[in-house]
Amino acid sequence: MSAQNRIKRIGVPDIRARKGGEPLVCLTAYDFPMARLLDPHCDVLLVGDSLGMVVHGLDTTIGVTLDMMILHGKAVMRAAKQALVVIDLPFGTYEASPEQAFASASRALAETGAQAVKIESGVYAGDTIRFLTERGIPVMGHIGLKPQAALNEGGFKARGRSQAEWDRVIAEAKAADEAGAFAIVIEGVDEELAREITAQVSVPTIGIGASPACDGQILVTQDLLGLFDWAPKFVKRYASLGETVSDAVGRWAADVRSREFPAAEQTYRIRPNDR
Ligand code: KIV
Repeated sequence: MSAQNRIKRIGVPDIRARKGGEPLVCLTAYDFPMARLLDPHCDVLLVGDSLGMVVHGLDTTIGVTLDMMILHGKAVMRAAKQALVVIDLPFGTYEASPEQAFASASRALAETGAQAVKIESGVYAGDTIRFLTERGIPVMGHIGLKPQAALNEGGFKARGRSQAEWDRVIAEAKAADEAGAFAIVIEGVDEELAREITAQVSVPTIGIGASPACDGQILVTQDLLGLFDWAPKFVKRYASLGETVSDAVGRWAADVRSREFPAAEQTYRIRPNDR
């Protein structure tokens, strides 16, 4: 590939510069084939710890390990050429101390080649975000509904509906912003609060179930594509991938059972790159 044709990867300063500008398009990605399809459309690909639920069938994200994140992060990085790739730090790998967070984040970046990490950032996480950013690790914050804290903070429901919760989410936003996060995911808050946070922080906010009042949006890709029977209420499905797969496999199974499948190619198919 010539130097002119090489695709330039979006960097952390590019994301920061989008504050108040063209909305950021972000999706989760967990594997090579999907990352390859998403990459040309996205500013950010997040290797989210939601992979525990979406890919591995866990009930929550609590059981996700750093090794799982790194394995999936490597697959995404092999496919993503232009989007900024962010790796979620999973539960238990960053909360104990800034030093623990640095060890996990540096491993995630060094082993995958991704550009940044995300942490679910309660108010306490300001110190950790500052420690990481001062040492060269770009951090995306995540406030509001924090799935890793769902056991302690009242499950998977919207945040900020009481005055105390509203104040807490604002405090989380300010802590992440002042500590140097380059962007902040806001999950599960009403439009009024999302608008207020977006006005108060200096970096782009990226909403999930948090209204269009944010500087960008992120979704779990499988929800957008309709892979499962169920998706959160705020998700508009743009495809019915679950039905498409089930229908295709059902037709293939019927062909196999009736021994009627067409012999499309006589030779064993190999990938174009292997020829
Ligand atoms: O883990 C995840 O996928 C996330 C988001 C969807 C923001 O944190």
